[in-house]
Amino acid sequence: MLPRKRNAVIFSVLLVLLAQRTEQYGSGAPSTACTDQLPRHESIAPQSSTPPYLILTSSAQVRQGDTIQVTVGSPAGAPLPIGGFIMQARQIQNPDIIVGKFVSVPDPATTHMTTCTNENDTVTHSSPADKPAMTFQWQAPTDFLGGVEFRATVAQSYATFWKNVESPLVEVVTPDTPVNAPAAAAPASTRAPPPPPVIMETKPRQEARPLDIIYQGCADTKLCFGVPQNCIAKGDCKAIVAVFVAGDVYTFELQASDNPKYVAAGLSLDNKMGDDSAMECVRNDNGRINLFTSWTYPKSEPYVSRSDSPQDIVQLLESSNIDGKLYCKFRRDVVSVVQGQTFDLANNMYNLMIVAGNSMKDADRVGFHDAAYEATGAPQALASVGAAAASSKLLLKLHGCCMLLAWLGTASLGILLARYFRQTWVGKTLGGKDIWFAYHRIFMVLTWVLTMAGFILILIEVGGWSTTGDNPHAITGIVTVILCFIQPIGAFFRPHPGTSKRPIFNWMHWLGGNAAHILGIVTIFLAVYLQKAELPSWTVYILAAFVAFHVVMHFVLSLTVCVSDGRISNGRITSFPMKDMLGHPRQPTALDRSTDAPFSSFRRLLLGIYTPIILLFAIAMICLVALAPITEAYNTIMGS
Ligand SMILES: *[C@@H]1O[C@H](CO)[C@@H](O)[C@H](O)[C@H]1NC(C)=O
Repeated sequence: MLPRKRNAVIFSVLLVLLAQRTEQYGSGAPSTACTDQLPRHESIAPQSSTPPYLILTSSAQVRQGDTIQVTVGSPAGAPLPIGGFIMQARQIQNPDIIVGKFVSVPDPATTHMTTCTNENDTVTHSSPADKPAMTFQWQAPTDFLGGVEFRATVAQSYATFWKNVESPLVEVVTPDTPVNAPAAAAPASTRAPPPPPVIMETKPRQEARPLDIIYQGCADTKLCFGVPQNCIAKGDCKAIVAVFVAGDVYTFELQASDNPKYVAAGLSLDNKMGDDSAMECVRNDNGRINLFTSWTYPKSEPYVSRSDSPQDIVQLLESSNIDGKLYCKFRRDVVSVVQGQTFDLANNMYNLMIVAGNSMKDADRVGFHDAAYEATGAPQALASVGAAAASSKLLLKLHGCCMLLAWLGTASLGILLARYFRQTWVGKTLGGKDIWFAYHRIFMVLTWVLTMAGFILILIEVGGWSTTGDNPHAITGIVTVILCFIQPIGAFFRPHPGTSKRPIFNWMHWLGGNAAHILGIVTIFLAVYLQKAELPSWTVYILAAFVAFHVVMHFVLSLTVCVSDGRISNGRITSFPMKDMLGHPRQPTALDRSTDAPFSSFRRLLLGIYTPIILLFAIAMICLVALAPITEAYNTIMGS
């Protein structure tokens, strides 16, 4: 047997019409036809119409070393004899490479095997006589995995022939892969019509299947990182990257399931998307799989760019798309420079990122990673082995939930109560305090506790103080936390009502509380733009709706207060929440003491509307944070 190129697999069919060259009987197609698939018909060009011939295989998968039937003929109902042909199996990835060999022909009198690259890798006709559909046995090579297609040139007559008659994709799979077709079938009789593709269950599909190639060695020879968590041991990752190092050769493997458009890995200095060197394994609609490198940009156009990354730093070794699993195996140079950054795989550690998506943004940019996204929790030495741990987003999400509940929910309610409800529920108390004050204190203590908890969570998550690029979230956030922290201390030492310092306290308390509230909400707006939060950009509309609702309710409540206050003081319109601050406490009247101010029931109604809606906003935002980044898939679908 002739030696085969290591990575050559797949077979293609090449048909050459040799109608006028019967003297070539037994000698095979001329060697020049091996590659260009053209008959030596001087200047006669192939037909440009759709070929009236087709090639079918008995299975879309074949195990290494097994054989399948390959039938070339015309579609049922339109019988058209074949004059001459040449057919080979070719690699999908490298259509110039002929793979596998034929092991039998239907009728040795009219067809025969011949040799282009390896022995018997081509079949062709022996005589120009009209032939019906013919079925050949082709054996998959043992040293190749991946997609192949049979490609043929088929001639109807001397001057009428079609190039590139192609079979559907056939995947060569490992010997232990269960496939749907028998490994071998008896040669079809020459004169028989093409047999229908033989579909026979050889094994139940449920049989425990061995781990895919990419998982093999994850325990002891490769560094593997997959999503979701703990998928590597089970071999059922949505997406996985593996790195194998031998000497100074760094071999990467990528795989994603559920028939994605692409699977990609990124080398990153942090565990955030952006400023990373990415390697993309991308499936074409025609079944071909290509490898690219690209550079990613953090949350800004062009997001990902192939032209900003040299393409020659990687070399594709193998690729396949079997059972909806897109797979690429490739080498990457140990040292490469992308966008001025040196990626030295041997001497530096990198966070590995694995992503997969179902669409392209445009012809040469992959779309949003809606199928899978995960980054390692810590930089990895690529030569290490074992399963890398993902970054945990639990603390980050808890931080977001605490802050949202505090600043959208409890702070809003506490402030509203203090401003508009001092003269509601007059005479009733809770724990010895006025109702409004008791609830104000409960909500504000909750706000304080949630804020401090959220602050501690984020300190633990980022390991101390860190600003986030040019996003001032961290700065506005820490000012909010400081204001919030001192607010109850001031309140605890507040002077008694009626003393001269009380108005100063009132002003300070009002100012501190409102400043903290406004800054808190600004900080939440800024969080939407943080890469880490992985929030869809339309989150800002929810926040904007919250602010609008909040402002409208404050406006309406202020109006009721102004009007009722005007009534009480006989036309003197003063905003009553501010009255205490002016240092001229109104003489309490009998009315004040015993009865609610006018519009109290209207205000209570507004509170009854405000409270559930504000809490709904807070809960909606908390859900977005908790589910991030799943929701961003929606964002991509919406085209933003
Ligand atoms: C090629 O085909 C011929 C004729 O069928 C056969 O004798 C020979 O063993 C085949 N060679 C290989 C390598 O299969």
